[in-house]
Amino acid sequence: MIRLEHLSKTFSTERGEVHAVRDVNLEVPRGELCVLLGPSGCGKTTTLKIVNRLIPHTAGKIYIDEEDTDQFDVVRLRRNIGYVIQQIGLFPNMTVEENIAVVPRLLGWPKDKQKKRAAELIDMVALDRGMLQRYPKELSGGQQQRVGVARGLAADPPVLLMDEPFGAIDPINREVIQDEFLKMQAELKKTIMFVSHDIDEAVKMGDKIAIFRAGQLEQYGAPDDVLAHPINDFVADFVGGDRELKRMRLIRIVDALEGHAPSVRAGDSLETAAQKMDQTGVTVAVVVDADNYPEGYVARADAEGGAGKCEREQHPLANPVKLNQDLRTAVSRMFTYDTDWLAAVDERGRFAGIITRAGITETLHAKARGKGTA
Ligand SMILES: Nc1ncnc2c1ncn2[C@@H]1O[C@H](COP(=O)(O)OP(=O)(O)O)[C@@H](O)[C@H]1O
Ligand SMILES: [Mg+2]
Repeated sequence: MIRLEHLSKTFSTERGEVHAVRDVNLEVPRGELCVLLGPSGCGKTTTLKIVNRLIPHTAGKIYIDEEDTDQFDVVRLRRNIGYVIQQIGLFPNMTVEENIAVVPRLLGWPKDKQKKRAAELIDMVALDRGMLQRYPKELSGGQQQRVGVARGLAADPPVLLMDEPFGAIDPINREVIQDEFLKMQAELKKTIMFVSHDIDEAVKMGDKIAIFRAGQLEQYGAPDDVLAHPINDFVADFVGGDRELKRMRLIRIVDALEGHAPSVRAGDSLETAAQKMDQTGVTVAVVVDADNYPEGYVARADAEGGAGKCEREQHPLANPVKLNQDLRTAVSRMFTYDTDWLAAVDERGRFAGIITRAGITETLHAKARGKGTA
């Protein structure tokens, strides 16, 4: 959908030439969100501005839907590409409604259509319609960023360029607005180039991550692939020494679940519990009630050769994890309870299996092998 071919930009300054973008080749498939990630000054903003033709490029080509955008007139360009600029950049002398309608106005939409669209968008970004007649300075930072996103989406362009769109708000509101945006994107399926300097944001938001250094594209791939196989020391340093922890945020409990782990009832014999553990090769059996809700566990050592019912040897259970939570949640809880396994439950709280430290390690290795280029 978006393809950059040998894209370069050189600025001539008094101190000489600045090679802001050097021979970048990059393809973003339709409906995907690609994060351009890298330290300050590596050419992210320049790349976006070139794609949006706010500045001319020195060499290379930009294709949207296989068409060279050099051939697009301004109207066609604005219809196809929405832009959410760094530092929000709302016009202070325009109302929120007028800010959102900047591109529709430029495209010559009738007034009532502009108003209707602004109202639609204010709903979409979860703001109150009462805000349409306010001025940007009367809004909080987070609210302004939402308006910035609404403005980028105004003409419903298939391509959206976002330059650190959630950069200027506190971490808590940032998480909220990121989550909201991901939900929106799941429906809108725009093709997005999203600039960030924050690896956590990139891992969370990106279908793909493109890591830049000094104007060059160092590595391009799915977040888990980049984290599992950094291509060189620069990328490894940039993604951080805790990259396995970051990968764990991308993998859900259900993907590392040991669903064959046995369950027993409190009234079952310890002999039954021991047999089930032998059959499955798991060293614990989770005790469940009549509705399959976990209420404790029996350990292999206690069940083996033991007489009587499971309830005699039943231990309390650490707080179970849910199937759709991520592996970080599981590992964090394992540390809290000083245990190397946890029961996992479905969305209604019923026993679904267990998750173990060894199983998590195996899942991380298997995923790395599956996608690895090495
Ligand atoms: N108009 C300009 N004139 C000269 N140099 C520029 C200009 N704009 C950006 N640069 C330089 O190009 C490089 C990339 O900048 P930029 O794309 O803004 O980086 P990023 O967005 O990744 O922080 C930097 O070295 C910056 O100083
Ligand atoms: Mg920038």
